[in-house]
Amino acid sequence: MNIKAGYPKWLDRAVFYQIYPQSFYDTNNDGIGDIPGINEKLDYLQWLGINAIWINPCFVSPFQDAGYDVADYYKVAPRYGTNQDLYKLCRAAHRRDIKICLDLVAGHTSIEHPWFKASCNPKQNKYSDRYIWTIPSKPITDFPLTLVKEHAPGKGDYIANFFNFQPALNYGFAKPDKDQPWQQPVNAPGPLEARKELIKIMKYWLSHGVDGFRVDMAFSLVKLDPGHKETIKLWQDIAQKVRAEYPEVVLIAEWGNPEESIAAGFDIDFMMHIGVEGYGALMLNENCFFRRNGGGNIEEFLKVYFTQTKKTKGRGLISIPSANHDFKRPYADDRTANDLKVIFTFLLTWPSMPFIYYGDEIGMRYIPKMESKEGGFGRTGTRTPMQWDNTRNAGFSKAEKTQLYLPLDPRKNRPTVEKQENESGSLLNHVRKLIVLRKNSPALQASAKLTPLPVKASDRHFAYLRESDSERYLIVLNPSAQPVEARLNVTKPGNLTPQICRGVKANVAGDVIQLNMGGISYGVFKL
Ligand code: NOJ
Repeated sequence: MNIKAGYPKWLDRAVFYQIYPQSFYDTNNDGIGDIPGINEKLDYLQWLGINAIWINPCFVSPFQDAGYDVADYYKVAPRYGTNQDLYKLCRAAHRRDIKICLDLVAGHTSIEHPWFKASCNPKQNKYSDRYIWTIPSKPITDFPLTLVKEHAPGKGDYIANFFNFQPALNYGFAKPDKDQPWQQPVNAPGPLEARKELIKIMKYWLSHGVDGFRVDMAFSLVKLDPGHKETIKLWQDIAQKVRAEYPEVVLIAEWGNPEESIAAGFDIDFMMHIGVEGYGALMLNENCFFRRNGGGNIEEFLKVYFTQTKKTKGRGLISIPSANHDFKRPYADDRTANDLKVIFTFLLTWPSMPFIYYGDEIGMRYIPKMESKEGGFGRTGTRTPMQWDNTRNAGFSKAEKTQLYLPLDPRKNRPTVEKQENESGSLLNHVRKLIVLRKNSPALQASAKLTPLPVKASDRHFAYLRESDSERYLIVLNPSAQPVEARLNVTKPGNLTPQICRGVKANVAGDVIQLNMGGISYGVFKL
């Protein structure tokens, strides 16, 4: 069964912005960003041009994993404000034509969650089967998933989904082992209750104005599920029930396999994040394409990208984000703002769904070797406070410096929104121009045609056409430090009108375009 024919129309021209709420903007001077802080910065986000926001988990939590350890799905964490603040944010965002998506941690809770506490009780109760417990008298030694032992007297071991303090919710096993009766089928009462509750949580927030969800580890729900067949069926059921009441809901999967996630009913998947090499070859690896001296070529990325898009075309979208809270920001290692301009030129003219991680639009840096915070470990350096201006704490908070959620980038020349707003050649203005161009140009949007122009294995540049019924663009990129000369064959290119360009000269003779590209250069031309 495939219940999904398409995705909400507005996604074609959407540009998402990801907000890590604790680091965005603090309005109550406790050193931690909050929801009223997002509300206050909506004018900025509207000016930037984005039209959808994904907020990392903002629910009650002991914050052992920055909120990915939920203790109450129905309540905003007091450090971020109240439910009313969130409803208000939705209303204010909608007035600006901006959608709000929450982070739904579907696969596990915190050990502090009252469901888990009740489930730890050896006496049978409503929550006994909400999590996956082995049988106390029959310890299991050889098992492919993480078993956390001796947590609750009188109970067996429980399965953890990520960190040990994140017990997996029980959505059942794809093929329960008959000799292990604690492995329940997906349609057993416990798993069905967990599913029902998840639907209830989603409908609760949708009824208060939220537009959709980014689902954490969406692939992880049914255990020992080869090809995720049962997990796909489970999400199809959930999506169908939610869409019956909220047809416009947007569902974004952290799955890492669009072929599966889109079939499961999701609209968008971060293909590049888990288990797929393409994002590494594009942005992350030492020898990736977007590294001035990396030597990488675009082919490896294209191979992965086209394999996935062929299987999902028209039914869902793939996101290539600038970064996220789990990955190094693009402004790391040897990159500069100019390198980022090439990257953003790609991200905002490629058909994939752009997700801008807060601060990447001004080139905030990944800060290496930061002390781990809330389970962040190496990810902590990507989660530092937003740099708004040159006032105290970069305008992020009026709290004492020592109270800040995380220390700021200590460098004197750290980029700020205020400085870059006023510089026409800044990265921020570059990103903004690209967003405006994308939103106003059907040919640059998600569903418009893409034609990559051929590259040889030794090529460090890349060029592609984007086309709609009414317009045509040529995009050329040279992320390497070396200048490049290239000839492109394009039928009837006509005059090339540069829209957003740096360091590129293009001469047209008939159907041949001769390109002279400086090191680290880009061009978006209207044909
Ligand atoms: C993926 C999230 O992006 C990450 O931050 C979190 O630690 C794990 N899932 C566990 O929820």
